[in-house]
Amino acid sequence: MAIIRNHDVVIFGTGLAGLRAAVEIARSTNGQIDMALVSKVQLMRAHSVCAEGGTGAVLREEEGDSLDLHAWDTVKGSDFLADQDAVDCFVNRSPREIHLLEHWGCPWSRRKDGRIYQRPFGGHSYPRATMAADKTGFVEMQTLYDTLTKYSNWTNYHEVFATSIILKDGKFSALTVIDNVSGEFMAIRGKCLLIATGGLGCLYGFTTYSQTVTGDGHAIAVRAGLPMEDPEFLQFHPTGLVPSGILMTEGCRGEGGYLRNKDGDRFMEKYAKERMELAPRDIISRAETTEIIEGRGLEGPDKMGYVHLDLRHLGADKINHRLPLIREVTMKFLGLDPITTSIPVRPVAHYSMGGIETDITARTRLENIWAAGEVACVSMHGANRLGTNSTAECLVFGGIAGEEIVKYLKTNNVLSDLPQDKLKESEAYIYDNILKRTGKENPFKLRQELRSLLDCYAGVFRNGKNMEEGLQKVKELKERFKNVGVQDKSRVYNTNLLHTLETGNLILLAEILLTGALNRAESRGAHSRRDFPKRDDVNWLKHTMITLHDDNLVIDYKPVTITKWKPVERKY
Ligand code: FUM
Repeated sequence: MAIIRNHDVVIFGTGLAGLRAAVEIARSTNGQIDMALVSKVQLMRAHSVCAEGGTGAVLREEEGDSLDLHAWDTVKGSDFLADQDAVDCFVNRSPREIHLLEHWGCPWSRRKDGRIYQRPFGGHSYPRATMAADKTGFVEMQTLYDTLTKYSNWTNYHEVFATSIILKDGKFSALTVIDNVSGEFMAIRGKCLLIATGGLGCLYGFTTYSQTVTGDGHAIAVRAGLPMEDPEFLQFHPTGLVPSGILMTEGCRGEGGYLRNKDGDRFMEKYAKERMELAPRDIISRAETTEIIEGRGLEGPDKMGYVHLDLRHLGADKINHRLPLIREVTMKFLGLDPITTSIPVRPVAHYSMGGIETDITARTRLENIWAAGEVACVSMHGANRLGTNSTAECLVFGGIAGEEIVKYLKTNNVLSDLPQDKLKESEAYIYDNILKRTGKENPFKLRQELRSLLDCYAGVFRNGKNMEEGLQKVKELKERFKNVGVQDKSRVYNTNLLHTLETGNLILLAEILLTGALNRAESRGAHSRRDFPKRDDVNWLKHTMITLHDDNLVIDYKPVTITKWKPVERKY
């Protein structure tokens, strides 16, 4: 029998976007709205704490930066697939977010004159990465959490695993969850829902993401009927530490670091003469991969090859002050000091440009469900996101979602009925179906195979034949998943059960990603096809929309919103 809890708002995911929304709701109503904060990890363990390099915002118009320039950089960076109204809204609101965090006590890095320091980042024409050394996400999260604790109108449901969204007459009614600690099944009801569960990067083996980032929010939303927009656009960050994949922040290059091949050459000169190491990520990732494929990479412990991130010329002082985490990580994980030795890196799965479709008020197609942060596709990143625009997006659209939810509740202050048949069905699926499965397939092995598949078939360079093969293999994994065995039959903190559910989510998302990628017969941003090497604005200047109907994916397209800038050739 499920336990029922009632709240005004359910916030699903407690990273930057979720916490920012919670703070907005709390402060603007002075604690009058009752919130449930739901997360599978403990508060402050969301993957947002791993964000390193900075948060993009225009703070220096008097010194030469401008909102228009930030918008243009973002649109050009997106390979013209971003919706320009969303970009406009974003660049206009991000400076305010930096100042709000400043007022809430965020310890931003400072210039000598005491003003907030900003460093250069890839694809930005002006230094606008607002940062706290290389621990930006961590201090932002800490600031938001600290601010939230000033209010008492929220209940923390941490270490609970969400299994479904229950709708009543096309509106959100409840989120069903397994409480890992007690082993109980719960329905958390609310008058509205915000999905803010972050990314889906554990689809890949070589990834910067924490092992917890399994796209649960995406999968649950898709099963509830919401469309995924542009899922094929998966960003590879150029500098994943080899062999672990840990992020070596772009801030390394923002502070002046170089990329070198095995001959010591700064190879970016061939690929982006003007911007060099500060070109956008899609371009640098392709350049590195080309260097490696053509034999100018170094041979790595995992036989995959790598290039060097060289910080030696920056000197100890700069590295210790601006990049302390990078030094700590390379020393701990490789026994290597970047002050004296170059760092082995290669492109690594880092960010999903696509996600659950929202409008620019962060609202999904369902009246009382919002989505913000990486799980959402508003779409301001299009085919390739610029570094620093992600933490900024979480703050901006988390804040907007909070405001919109408060507005909505003024005229819609009722809980939808909770359909008992759907609740029973959700509970039975977990305990009478998945938990009871005794098949031969090991969920850990399935997940491992899936991740290698994505590394291999949906990487930096793609082609149709490979992707068809990859999609076929994902479908085989989907079949094999039906024969999965959950060995641990207990209810309390059953990680075997949780990992099985996560694997089911990842398989669904892999199918969606590859379906979107296979259909898009062009190269744009991070989606680079050998068989269709050119961008094709005539046929493909449009967003992919994928919906799940009776276990089948239905694919559709919608136009890109272009307000100011018509697509032109993208050169750096
Ligand atoms: O390189 C980084 O610090 C990552 C930043 C981002 O993805 O925005």
